[in-house]
Parts: sequence; C-alpha cells; structure tokens
Amino acid sequence: MIGILDVFAYLALSYILYRFIRGIYIIIYPYLIARPKNLHKLAGGAKWAIVTGSTDGIGKEYAIQLAQKGFNLILISRTQSKLDSVKAEIIEEFKNIEIETIAYNFTNANLSDYKKEILPMIEKKEIGILGKIFFA
Ligand SMILES: NC(=O)c1ccc[n+]([C@@H]2O[C@H](COP(=O)([O-])OP(=O)(O)OC[C@H]3O[C@@H](n4cnc5c(N)ncnc54)[C@H](OP(=O)(O)O)[C@@H]3O)[C@@H](O)[C@H]2O)c1
Repeated sequence: MIGILDVFAYLALSYILYRFIRGIYIIIYPYLIARPKNLHKLAGGAKWAIVTGSTDGIGKEYAIQLAQKGFNLILISRTQSKLDSVKAEIIEEFKNIEIETIAYNFTNANLSDYKKEILPMIEKKEIGILGKIFFA
C-alpha cells in the first residue's frame, strides 16, 4: 500500500526528473532544436530596420547581422562621426543595402525632439524591425 510519504517521494522524484530533462532541453535547444527565424517574414516584408546604440558593442553587431540579411538600416546613436564610420564599414561589406544615420541623444528625450529629429527621417519608410540597444 502506498503511504503519504511515498506520495511525497514520488512527487519529489518527478520534480527532480522534470528539472533534469528541462535542463538538458535548455542546453541542447540552441544547437539542435532552434531554427533560424525568417526575419523578413516577421518584419512583414518591410525593408528597413532601426538600430539604436548601433555604433558600438551589441548594437553594432546587431546592425551588421541585419545588413547581412539584406535589411536597409537607420543607425541611431549620439556621435555623428561614429555613425559615419560604422556606416562606411557596413556599406563596404554589404553594398546592396541603404544606410541612413541619425545623431540623437535618448537621455531626457521628449516628444517634440522625436518629432523634430527622428520622425522626419523614418516616417516615409517601411520599418520592420526596431532594435533598441544601449545603456541602462
Ligand atoms: N545582458 C547582458 O548580458 C549584457 C551584456 C553586455 C551589455 N549589456 C547592456 O547592453 C547595452 C549595450 O551594451 P554595449 O556593450 O553594446 O554598449 P556600448 O559598446 O557602450 O555601446 C553603446 C551604444 O549606445 C550608444 N549610446 C549610448 N548612450 C546613448 C544615448 N544617450 N543616446 C543614444 N545613443 C547612445 C553609443 O554610441 P554613442 O556613444 O555615439 O552615443 C553606442 O553605440 C548596455 O546597456 C549594457 O549594459 C547587457
């Protein structure tokens, strides 16, 4: 006959087994199970991607990866010279895309600044991806 302690033991063992299988799944998922998403499809066919914080680190790599997939880019960060340099670097490698840059500081940004400095550059473009990457 199964007692109450047996029930708890089975429950504990089931939980440990579940955590073990889940751990294995998490480890193998990126290598064996995940398949690349079709970003163009997810972007609804739109050709442009915006990447903020795109002149260094994660944002720059994000921009490069999107360029590699054939997206046109709008690069945004504070420093125009860095934007120009990243634009030149990406265009050199991926000649079939268009890149525009916007020098903009998001610290203390407000709606009127957005309307003046960002909206005119993006409102006529079909934007499919917004990669918002920078700072805390
Ligand atoms: N979760 C994680 O594991 C992990 C790991 C690494 C980083 N992070 C976080 O991810 C973010 C990016 O990291 P990162 O290493 O790529 O940083 P990074 O190399 O310092 O790049 C930051 C980018 O943001 C731009 N930027 C900074 N302040 C800005 C502002 N006020 N307005 C507009 N653009 C601005 C910078 O260009 P300008 O200087 O020209 O503006 C640069 O392009 C950080 O918040 C970092 O803490 C998370």
